[in-house]
Amino acid sequence: MTDSTHLPTRFANRIALVTGGASGIGRAAVDRLVREGAAVVVWDIDKAKLDACGALHGHSVLTRVVDVSQAADVENAMAELIEARGKLDILVNGAGIVGPNGPFWETSPEQWDRVVRINLTGLFLVSRAATPHLVRNGWGRIVNIASVTANEGPKNLGPYAATKAGVVGLTKSMGKDLAGTGVLVNAVTPALIATDLLQQLSAEYLAAALSRIPLGRAGTLDEAAALITWLCSDECSFSTGAAFDLSGGRGV
Ligand SMILES: NC(=O)c1ccc[n+]([C@@H]2O[C@H](COP(=O)([O-])OP(=O)(O)OC[C@H]3O[C@@H](n4cnc5c(N)ncnc54)[C@H](O)[C@@H]3O)[C@@H](O)[C@H]2O)c1
Repeated sequence: MTDSTHLPTRFANRIALVTGGASGIGRAAVDRLVREGAAVVVWDIDKAKLDACGALHGHSVLTRVVDVSQAADVENAMAELIEARGKLDILVNGAGIVGPNGPFWETSPEQWDRVVRINLTGLFLVSRAATPHLVRNGWGRIVNIASVTANEGPKNLGPYAATKAGVVGLTKSMGKDLAGTGVLVNAVTPALIATDLLQQLSAEYLAAALSRIPLGRAGTLDEAAALITWLCSDECSFSTGAAFDLSGGRGV
């Protein structure tokens, strides 16, 4: 992505919150939002990566260790965000984990609960805390990072696929619940994007996943950030409750 494709004032005066924004797709969204004028708050559980992000962006970024699966942590952090920045316009729900690789019957209830609490309940908790502030503005954008696995239900990835299907279903309801408020809610459904998260996948799964992408490669972080930030922008105005494919043709 060259600088000439960036719009330096696209997010001027916008306050954005990105969960899971310390690395990978969330971090790519943070970087682009900042480059295009937003003040960004980043919540993540990885303190070292949060510090690196904060050091790079200086006053444009506030970072905080927040576990999105913990309701009290989310509520406290949201109160701090509003106190510090005065409002919230944009929410990107990027925090997520892959969870166990294996057949569903070998997944322990504890493993299942952890994936659900982070990928689905966490997204609900953060969206729930953010929504009154977005509605108060009369303008807002929520972008939920789902996955192409929401539709596919890949072998050995049941908990992850179930949570991502849940994210797509929740996005549809959120979009309709908020219709008419000025707040639009959409999801993206990536296939393989080149991030650290891929290291949590088995070599066998990775090879099979790549072979199913018609464009024949993983997506880039810039490609993910381009779609996510478009969904955060004024230019996205007639889409809500939708899941946007980001899979090199695999998911369509
Ligand atoms: N990379 C891909 O190919 C791909 C494909 C489809 C969907 N996704 C989704 O994109 C999102 C981002 O994934 P990524 O590939 O950038 O991975 P990543 O591991 O680089 O980023 C995920 C971030 O979420 C944070 N996180 C994990 N648990 C958290 C919690 N409880 N509270 C707050 N933060 C937490 C991690 O510390 C990390 O910084 C995830 O929701 C993932 O499921 C990724």
